[in-house]
Amino acid sequence: MSSLPPFSADDALASLLADALRHGRPVDDSAFDALLSQTARAKSGGFWSAVEVAQTASRWLSEANATRVLDVGAGVGKWCAVASLTSGHRVWGLEQRGPLVFEARKLAQRLGAEVVMLEGTLESVNASRFDGLYFFNPFAEHIADKYDLYDETITPSLDTYLRDARTVEGWLRAAKLGTAMVTYNGLGGRIPTSWACQKKARLAGHVLRLWVKTREETDREAFVEVQDLLITASMLARLSKEFPQSPLEDLLVSRLVADWQP
Ligand SMILES: C[S@@+](CC[C@H](N)C(=O)[O-])C[C@H]1O[C@@H](n2cnc3c(N)ncnc32)[C@H](O)[C@@H]1O
Repeated sequence: MSSLPPFSADDALASLLADALRHGRPVDDSAFDALLSQTARAKSGGFWSAVEVAQTASRWLSEANATRVLDVGAGVGKWCAVASLTSGHRVWGLEQRGPLVFEARKLAQRLGAEVVMLEGTLESVNASRFDGLYFFNPFAEHIADKYDLYDETITPSLDTYLRDARTVEGWLRAAKLGTAMVTYNGLGGRIPTSWACQKKARLAGHVLRLWVKTREETDREAFVEVQDLLITASMLARLSKEFPQSPLEDLLVSRLVADWQP
């Protein structure tokens, strides 16, 4: 008689969690994170979206009619797995760190979530294939203190930060009307004013915003998310001239302003 395949405690946990997520029930982050590797679990609080954040973002994207959603900077795939089980749709994730892509694929498989993990950076995807985008402040590591890095495989670089922020701004300017996006703890770059912020909530310590592209591009104006505030790039430029010592006058903001071309 052939023996049954081994069934581990992790498989049982994954199946319970997947069932709860499919039914939109709350899931404790520490229970979910028990499925992650030791390092990914230890860094979860700072690097991966909490389950409640992912569930809310996924619901907002579904309500905005997004069915092909890309998590830009998907990490260990926590957001993608939760979003796929919440929405019942396939979800794509783009991640630059190979070992995280590997772990994200295993996580999705374990949970029975339909996740496609793409290994690479922004240049490797065609953003126009997606009608929904998710950003959990993915480029912040490039301007972070070395103690706030996930690991040492990334060399922080303000130029890379600004290049990525500009690439995404280009995606947003080229996006079709009706494209939706959720930002959590800020996108980290400029959001064209052709996009309207339609929902906002404070969850797990940061602001979550739903954006929809509601009009064609007519100018170069953009929003910048400064913590809880939304401010236009032109207003920031004016403020930074009038109040050069203001706390807004940090390196990033001053570069965003210097980069501003009406
Ligand atoms: C804050 S984590 C968010 C992970 C995931 N979105 C979530 O919410 O659970 C940001 C991730 O983005 C990745 N990342 C940053 N810049 C990237 C780029 N240009 N291309 C691909 N991945 C990037 C980092 O390696 C990191 O894993």
